[in-house]
Amino acid sequence: MAERSCMNLYRLMAKYQAGEKLAVLTCYDACFARLLDDAGVDVLLVGDSLGMVLQGQRDTLAVTMEQTLYHTDAVRRGNRHAWLIADMPFGSYHGEVATAIDNAVKLMQAGAHMIKLEGAGFVIPIAKALTERGIPVCGHLGFTPQAVHALGGFRVQGRVEQASERLLQDAKALEAAGVRMLVIELTPSAVAKRITAALSIPTIGIGAGVDCSGQVLVLHDMLGLTPEPRARFVKNFLTPGRTPQQALAAFVSDVKQGVFPDESSHGYT
Ligand code: KIV
Repeated sequence: MAERSCMNLYRLMAKYQAGEKLAVLTCYDACFARLLDDAGVDVLLVGDSLGMVLQGQRDTLAVTMEQTLYHTDAVRRGNRHAWLIADMPFGSYHGEVATAIDNAVKLMQAGAHMIKLEGAGFVIPIAKALTERGIPVCGHLGFTPQAVHALGGFRVQGRVEQASERLLQDAKALEAAGVRMLVIELTPSAVAKRITAALSIPTIGIGAGVDCSGQVLVLHDMLGLTPEPRARFVKNFLTPGRTPQQALAAFVSDVKQGVFPDESSHGYT
């Protein structure tokens, strides 16, 4: 059997351009990195959701650079092929551009292939500065968890036309700044579809409908390990009789076939 190639931006773009959906999961340690990689997950995200999933926090705001570096390094050691994205934690890119660059460099040195930033506005010049320095950037629009208090809680974004148009313009501005991938979280499916159609970079949806270029879920959510009630967009793939490995393989397969998410049970209007 041919040796599987390591993922890189060129290969990710080739999959995207060929219409292959990208399977993305969050990952925080070496053990799961190995399992996810073996299951064929394209992209591992060291999300700041680690604050909620691993630390039991109510939101992602308390996660630090040191903690993200620790988990990125662990995931790097377990991973062999997948593309590895690390979240820049709250506060690590909210001040001077130079500080954002220093923190992104640290994450790349810990093993990230790309870093993820939430929002637009002040993020645009930071994304531009990073991409100009050879640091690939993933954007994140829609519900942006680091702004949970400003957004009034965990709620669907872009439901009114003005907000939907704003998201579209922000997405275009991020792409123009050099962003190479965009997470869209918690928007009506039609909004994410419109953004996806307008961009030439892959969109990765979470609670954003089936028309994104790929899908991401929080690992512990899709293994049914997080307590109920779970968000509507979450699907537990670890159904009775399945091993964790089979659950991961089912996620990859369902994403690739475009049968997850199912609009009727996981979509928002
Ligand atoms: O931190 C995280 O897990 C994320 C995903 C929800 C996309 O940003």
